[in-house]
Amino acid sequence: MAGDPERRALSTESDIHHPLFARWYARVIARAAERDQNRARLFRDLHGTVLELGCGPGVNFSRYPQSVSEVVAVEPEPTLRERAERAATSAPVPIQVRAGLADHLPLDDASVDEAVSSLVLCSVPDQDSALAELRRVLRPGGRLHFYEHVVAHNRVGRAFQAAADATFWPRTFGDCHLARDTLGAIERAGFRIEHYTRLRLVDAEFPHPHILGRAVLPV
Ligand SMILES: C[S@@+](CC[C@H](N)C(=O)[O-])C[C@H]1O[C@@H](n2cnc3c(N)ncnc32)[C@H](O)[C@@H]1O
Repeated sequence: MAGDPERRALSTESDIHHPLFARWYARVIARAAERDQNRARLFRDLHGTVLELGCGPGVNFSRYPQSVSEVVAVEPEPTLRERAERAATSAPVPIQVRAGLADHLPLDDASVDEAVSSLVLCSVPDQDSALAELRRVLRPGGRLHFYEHVVAHNRVGRAFQAAADATFWPRTFGDCHLARDTLGAIERAGFRIEHYTRLRLVDAEFPHPHILGRAVLPV
């Protein structure tokens, strides 16, 4: 166990402040998420205790199926966390919203059955340490369900992403990075990819390639 979860949950060290981005994001994502059928696919096969990493304003909360007994939703940005707390009150399953960082989660070792990450691994400061922490809190055999935007396959796309990452993109969009090989990071962390699809979205959150899939932690 890596520390007292209650104490860590209350720590303001777990806060990231992006109030302008947070207000903008909460507004645009609500409608985009509602009509995003790819996002809906994340929630088809979830059971037991679920960690939702970087839950933002809680747009996923209404999608959790009854097979989920509890969701612990971790969100470090106070404006987004407050929205998530409100969204949790009308969710179909019990949801606890906690402050926390991906690489310092307010959870015990092997305490969750599944984890959900939608558009979060683009924003964490270090994917390797976030995924190592995810491994700590997932039980052996636990699964990570991911929906993330990722580095482009083509040279022009990659060049645009690298230039944007080096200049305006992260500071405009809450530390988001475009040119990340998130699938590679998940595999490098020791997860086995069960399946994934590469998507090119024209009518969703970002005009960038996304991956949607599931990875399992070996027993
Ligand atoms: C683009 S938003 C996605 C929010 C939500 N998951 C969704 O699907 O709409 C990125 C989220 O990652 C969160 N985030 C940023 N850095 C983080 C970190 N180090 N640990 C956990 N979450 C983080 C942000 O606060 C924000 O809620």
